[in-house]
Amino acid sequence: MIIFVSGAYVLGNPLGFKPNIVILLADDLGYGDVGCYGNTTLRTPNMDALAQDGVKLTHHLAAESVCTPSRAALLTGRYPIRTGFIPTTVIRVDIFVANYVGLPDNETTIAELAKTVGYKTALIGKWHLGLSKETYGDNKFHPMNQGFDYYYGHILTNMKDFSGEGDRVVLSQQPNFYKICFSAIVISIISTLIIKKYEVVEQPIHLETLHDRYTKEGVEFIEDRSKDNNPFLLMMSYDHVHTALRTSERFRGKSKHGRYGDAVEELDDGIGEIMNALDRFGFGRNTLVYMTSDNGAHLEESGVNGEVDGGSNGIFRGGKTHGAVEGGIRIPGIIRFPTVLPSNIVIDEPTMQMDTFTTFANLIGAELPQNTQIDGKDLFPLLKRKSPISPHRFFYHYCDGALQAARYRPKAGNKVWKLVYETPNYLPGQNRCLFTCVCSESIKLENPLLYEINSDPGEEKPLNLEDHKEIVLAIEEAVKKHKESIQPTPPMMDFYKMLWRPHMQPCCNFPYCSCRDPVYQTT
Ligand SMILES: *[C@@H]1O[C@H](CO)[C@@H](O)[C@H](O)[C@H]1NC(C)=O
Ligand SMILES: *[C@@H]1O[C@H](CO)[C@@H](O)[C@H](O)[C@H]1NC(C)=O
Repeated sequence: MIIFVSGAYVLGNPLGFKPNIVILLADDLGYGDVGCYGNTTLRTPNMDALAQDGVKLTHHLAAESVCTPSRAALLTGRYPIRTGFIPTTVIRVDIFVANYVGLPDNETTIAELAKTVGYKTALIGKWHLGLSKETYGDNKFHPMNQGFDYYYGHILTNMKDFSGEGDRVVLSQQPNFYKICFSAIVISIISTLIIKKYEVVEQPIHLETLHDRYTKEGVEFIEDRSKDNNPFLLMMSYDHVHTALRTSERFRGKSKHGRYGDAVEELDDGIGEIMNALDRFGFGRNTLVYMTSDNGAHLEESGVNGEVDGGSNGIFRGGKTHGAVEGGIRIPGIIRFPTVLPSNIVIDEPTMQMDTFTTFANLIGAELPQNTQIDGKDLFPLLKRKSPISPHRFFYHYCDGALQAARYRPKAGNKVWKLVYETPNYLPGQNRCLFTCVCSESIKLENPLLYEINSDPGEEKPLNLEDHKEIVLAIEEAVKKHKESIQPTPPMMDFYKMLWRPHMQPCCNFPYCSCRDPVYQTT
């Protein structure tokens, strides 16, 4: 069948036309925060509508339980250990704009692939994968040097330090840290900036209006595509629902779950606006929309007055930063593509975010990078229900550089096994750490724990290893092979690279470093 849609008819891809791709990536949104995943008190009508019109994945996995490595994997289709995104200190995500951390430029992102086949690409929102490599303004790690034609957003990440209420990331992790370093205070001043293309347009960030600005930027990009007829890849990478939790007045105090709930509902509203824009400009039917979160909800997150600032991971144990524990890596995943994919179906087969790299590349007819180990696999047969099972037999779950668990989906039957080698060092009697779990403090188990994750999603009933010798053996063999496939790569997140470099610090009007985005000036 030949389908004609706006945009050129092209051979060399499975659809006969080039679909647009919109990625909606939330930050720290938990599996249990979304209506269609079982939440009954938060209002997420737009995410629910995506599931209604598309495929809801219930066993969707992030490559890591923290954002920087997880995002690197989503964009490259490779386990973070292959790209060097394995933090070597207790600070597991990048916290400075001005340092040497970044996604190596020899890695290929999905945006770079899209450009090879004529796509217009944009990233709106959080990046968190570096800015400059060595010198001020070299912009080697900037999104526009990683495949995006346009960028507007928070080049680093939202942080509780930005709330102005005295919250500090570094101090919640290391209460005595200030004795040796005052960086906790400095972070809030030097890391809060908005970049448009290559220019710092706002410093510090006005968080209350940020979400609406992201929406406007996304809608504008979509509108422009209706004028130039290029196929497009748009990635909306939201600051919501990471702390600091600031929303516009329309949402403040409106949800049943405090400022966290307000942020979830504002997130959902922005997603609705993007969907409206796709319809309004005629892209509703030839656009694949993928909605997900970078990792599980952050259970330990709370405000200075004890407010609950973290979300829910539903029936799963643990959350963000907890390494291989299910709540840290099991995330919402919805794919909507009217007329091409079925609507209103649920797929329980295990899949991972990295799969979208390969799936999208094949869909748009882009050639995968050569001589590079790509871990993602094409999900299209599964999504179209041409294949009944996951393309993966094995999944590997890391905490920094340590492989803490592996998952096995045998070809036969419908069980999914998880063999756990290391568990987080939780506070006594609780399923949580102090503020975040530190990988190097994990408990290395003498004998691994085996779970059948479909019947025991809360990881509460470890099975007798002796009774499942074949399963354990198969997993151990796969782990061995996987480890052999890892080539030594320069670490991108070690102590040295993570240090703040004053000479690389962006500043919109030196020495004040204070300005408001002129396009969005509000009274
Ligand atoms: C819905 O989300 C809120 C906020 O994360 C959480 O407190 C609540 O327990 C969730 N409800 C369900 C049924 O999961
Ligand atoms: C990028 O270069 C590093 C060495 O500098 C190497 O370890 C890595 O495998 C390269 N990545 C790719 C995708 O080739």
